[in-house]
Amino acid sequence: MNELASTPGRLIPSGSTDRVGWLRSQIVGVDAEVPLLDGTRRPYVYLDNAASTPAFRCVLETVEECLRWYSSVHRGAGFKSLISTHAYERAREVVLEFVGADRDAHTCIFGKNTTEAINKLAYRIGLEPGDVVLTTIMEHHSNDLPWRVQAEVVHAGVDRQGVLDMEDLERKLELYSGRVKVVAATGASNVTGYTPPIHRIAELAHAHGALVVADCAQLAPHRKVDMRPVGAPDHLDFVALSGHKMYAPFGTGALIGPRQFFRRGAPEYRGGGTIDIVTVDEVYWADPPDREEAGSPNVVGAVALAASIQVLNSIGMEVLATHERDLTGYLLERLSRIDAVEVYGISDPQRLDERLGVVSFSVKGIPHGKVAAILGFEGGIGVRNGCFCAHPYILRLLDVRGATYDGYKLRVLSHDRTELPGLVRVSFGCYNTRPEIDHLVAMLERVVSGGYQGDYQVERESGFYWPTQFDPALLDAYVPI
Ligand SMILES: Cc1ncc(COP(=O)(O)O)c(C=O)c1O
Repeated sequence: MNELASTPGRLIPSGSTDRVGWLRSQIVGVDAEVPLLDGTRRPYVYLDNAASTPAFRCVLETVEECLRWYSSVHRGAGFKSLISTHAYERAREVVLEFVGADRDAHTCIFGKNTTEAINKLAYRIGLEPGDVVLTTIMEHHSNDLPWRVQAEVVHAGVDRQGVLDMEDLERKLELYSGRVKVVAATGASNVTGYTPPIHRIAELAHAHGALVVADCAQLAPHRKVDMRPVGAPDHLDFVALSGHKMYAPFGTGALIGPRQFFRRGAPEYRGGGTIDIVTVDEVYWADPPDREEAGSPNVVGAVALAASIQVLNSIGMEVLATHERDLTGYLLERLSRIDAVEVYGISDPQRLDERLGVVSFSVKGIPHGKVAAILGFEGGIGVRNGCFCAHPYILRLLDVRGATYDGYKLRVLSHDRTELPGLVRVSFGCYNTRPEIDHLVAMLERVVSGGYQGDYQVERESGFYWPTQFDPALLDAYVPI
């Protein structure tokens, strides 16, 4: 299967000069047309890649091939079982190499996604009463809430642009000196796209005796992740990522960390596959990673993730970064010419190296939910709106506090999401194009000028805006089951 995954034809043809164009041709469903409110159809413009990316065609082909040989892993003895086991273990090696891990010192534990990886780690890291986890206010909830169960969590702040306040981080490392056992930081924000100096953070954390956890759910699809040599002051101890954000939406994510670390203690989930020997009186846990992967693993998902990584490698992360930087600069420049639009985060075209192509903004006088709905129903554009599972960061960016916050809280708790704070978010994948941005901007201009057609009503419980002209029964025609 591994040979198949690297068969020429699955990867970019050698000599191909239009790498990004080739990637676009690899996106499953890139030419899918969607119905618009005016009765016409147009190719969908998908700009919510920070949430989930579409699949690469070559990943899908690899999955199909994998399924031809799919069989029980690890404990099966037949030829197909050997192949499945080999493919699964090979996938670990591909992931380890992708993040610059040390194959001898590190292990790759497969799970569902980044959220599961960080929850596992928070449980397994062995925090004790009095320990502190230092994180940042810009985190996705998945790199904040799991730690709150296990320790006192302290947040380093951000400035008005949403840029991490490194002085505050250092101050808090000093303030809680001796107690900070973990520094957990994102590699890139899913709200502003800002990429904090993760290796500088690691250096500071290590100097204070803390372990470093890098949430690379956003970073990994767009920039080279490099854990750096174990023992280097700025290395990353743990990295987590998700396949569904990397063109492999088949239910697999990965946690990479020191093998030795997972030899300590017992796993949080126990059962098949996790042990060396069990009697009614005793349990001897297997070596990692098996100890950490209770139950039958998602072989297909792991192979899909590895296949996608092979594609990204064949293009080159720097090529992707250059293309996405170009898109980001172009979008920011176009948005800067719409007075009613306010971008949150770094918008200086000279500072594109400090951010990814995740751009959040508000439109003056129009609720974020309504903007997103008009773009979707009338422009065939998929964006996201709201707080993007990063409430503390959004509240800080929008300066929501005190009585205003209390008002929002009361409304949410009484199931009224009609007026929640939030932003509209556009996020690029490697296959997006400038003409797609032109279409987005043209639609935004229509939104601002009031030139849209729909009569939008907000649903109280969800905060979702539906145009009264839309018949939800239309969705049934597209649902494949
Ligand atoms: C920065 C960041 N961390 C963690 C997550 C959680 O990822 P998943 O939903 O794949 O577990 C996300 C998802 O958007 C994210 O953007």
